[in-house]
Amino acid sequence: MRFKHLAPALLLGAALVTALGAAPAAAQQDMAKFKQSQPTEPPSLPKIAWSFDGPFGTFDRASAQRGFLIYQQVCSACHSMNQLYYRNLSGIGLSEEQIKAIAASVQVPGGVNDQGQPIERPGLPSDHFKAPFPNEEAARAANNGALPPDQSVLELAREGGPDYLYAILTGYRDPPAGLKMQPGMSYNLYFPGFQIAMPQPLQDDSVQYTDGVKPTLDQEAKDVVTFLTWAANPEMEERKQTGVRVVLFLVFLTGVTYATKRRIWSDLHH
Ligand code: HEC
Repeated sequence: MRFKHLAPALLLGAALVTALGAAPAAAQQDMAKFKQSQPTEPPSLPKIAWSFDGPFGTFDRASAQRGFLIYQQVCSACHSMNQLYYRNLSGIGLSEEQIKAIAASVQVPGGVNDQGQPIERPGLPSDHFKAPFPNEEAARAANNGALPPDQSVLELAREGGPDYLYAILTGYRDPPAGLKMQPGMSYNLYFPGFQIAMPQPLQDDSVQYTDGVKPTLDQEAKDVVTFLTWAANPEMEERKQTGVRVVLFLVFLTGVTYATKRRIWSDLHH
């Protein structure tokens, strides 16, 4: 009596399991086929010869200045650089006059007027770089839900450093056939997962350079990455110089020690 309904129930259960199992299995097969034709990991990063590589490397000032121009005209529409002050730009060789003009080209909050209304004033060299959005929510709302990361120390925050930044900026491609892109996303060879919420920011001739250098995509990417690397490591050159001095001193000390030793032993021998 108790087992009367067991057989039909078992049958129904088996049918359900089969039906439920079949659908994911088919999807898995599709996925496996798709994965076979798609790379699953980004290719290895291009290795760029940077001016600041190696123990004697320094920032190419002209390149960093062109890179700042790109930040100012392109990237700063979405990315903040909260840790930088305009006066820091003397580090890439801009003059005091140039820095004053750059700062004065933006409006920053300037307290309140005598009616208590908030007012704005032109920026000063002592001001922070002006951020494009008042807060994270506004930044996300303008970028399809994604947050453009602050660029102050971006070079340090990503594995591969400058090579990775260069790769992202030059890594936009048409999505491969069969890849379903999320709305508003772009295909990028070097971004984890290949779908990035940043539309391709640089193309040939995105900016006009005043020093006769041709603004190709490759050149623009190298320039802005030189600028971003300087921004994240403004003390790098000093650190390298100190390193070289320390090594020179150690070499000198070794020489002195050796000479002293010879002298002492030569006294003992005679
Ligand atoms: C239209 C807005 C916009 C502009 C302009 C823009 N970005 Fe972005 N950027 C974004 C957003 C949004 C993200 C976050 C992408 C994501 O998480 O999918 C991002 C992410 C990045 C990343 C990080 C990739 C990572 O590993 O997380 C780098 C590097 C970057 N941007 C560099 C730049 C540079 C350099 C410029 C100027 C040449 C620039 N961006 C201009 C919106 C922008």
